[in-house]
Amino acid sequence: MLNKTLAGLVLGAGVAFACAQASALTIGFSQIGSESGWRTSETASIKAEAEKRGIDLKFSDAQQKQENQIKALRSFIAQGVDGILLAPVVETGWDQVLKEAKDAKIPVVLVDRGVAADPSLYLTKVASDFAEEGSLAASWLAAHTNGKCDIVELQGTVGSSAAIDRKKGFEAVVSNFPNMKIIRSQSGDFTRAGGKEVMESFLKAENGGKSICALYAHNDDMALGAIQAIKEAGLKPGKDITIISIDGVPDIFKAMADGETNATIELNPHLGGPSFDAINAAKEGKEVPKWIKANGPLYLPDTAAAEYAKRTAK
Ligand code: AHR
Repeated sequence: MLNKTLAGLVLGAGVAFACAQASALTIGFSQIGSESGWRTSETASIKAEAEKRGIDLKFSDAQQKQENQIKALRSFIAQGVDGILLAPVVETGWDQVLKEAKDAKIPVVLVDRGVAADPSLYLTKVASDFAEEGSLAASWLAAHTNGKCDIVELQGTVGSSAAIDRKKGFEAVVSNFPNMKIIRSQSGDFTRAGGKEVMESFLKAENGGKSICALYAHNDDMALGAIQAIKEAGLKPGKDITIISIDGVPDIFKAMADGETNATIELNPHLGGPSFDAINAAKEGKEVPKWIKANGPLYLPDTAAAEYAKRTAK
C-alpha cells in the first residue's frame, strides 16, 4: 500500500524533478523521543532519507513532552520552513498550533501517529492503521488458542493514537469470542522497562502467571521487557504464556527464533520518503491523500531467524 502510494506520488512528478525540488527544501521534524527501538529506527531512517535528498532537516527531540513539540513547531514556523513532519506524542491538543502552521502556509505531515484535530489543519498522515494491527493481533490469537484465552495487555503511551487504536481494534475482535477476555490492562509507556515492571505486577496478581494464557503488548519493546519478567518468575515466555506484539524490531525476531515469543506485526519505520514526497506534491499543487497507509505483515517463528539475519546484516 505504502509503495503503491509513494510510486503514485513520485511517478506523477517525475523522479528527477521530485529530487531536484527536494534538494531545495528545509523541513522541521518534531520527534517524540527515543522510547523504543522502533522509534530510534524511524528517526535514523528519516534523517538518512533527508540527507539522501539534500533536504536541510531541522530535528527536534521532544523527550516525550507535547509542550516541547508545540514549542518546536512554533520555532519551525518562525524560521519559515518549507514543511513540518510531526510525530505527535498524544492525539489531542494540537488544533491551535496546527492552525498557526496553516496560517503561515506551512504543510504539516503527521508521521506514524494521528491527531484528533480537523483534517483540514494538516496535509496528510503517513502511518499504519493501528486498529487494523490490533484486530490482526486478536484474530491471530483467537486462532492460536481456539478462542479460549485469558489475556493481559500492555498498552502504549496513554492518550497516543497508537495505544488508543491498537486497544480498540483488539477488543473489537476479542468481543466476538465468549471465552476470550482481557483480564488485566495497563500502560507500559512503550518502553522495555515499563513493560517489565507492569508484567511483574500482572504476574504477581495472577497467581504467579499461572492464570495468564497470553500477553498482547502494543509494542515489541514492552514485550521484550515482559519476557524478562516472565523468565524471572520461573515461567517460559512463548510457551507458558503466548506473546504477540507490534513493530518487528530485530530483537523481537531474535526472541522469536529462540522460542520466547510467538508473533509480531511489522510497523514500517521508513516514513521519510512518502512524507517528503507529499510535501513536494503539495508544493506542486497536486492533490495529496489524507492518509498514506503503511501497514505491515504478521511474522511467525518459522521465518524469525531469517528475518533477524536480514535486519542485522551490515
Ligand atoms: O507510534 C508508533 C509506536 O510508537 C510504536 O509501535 C512504538 O514502538 C512507538 O514508540
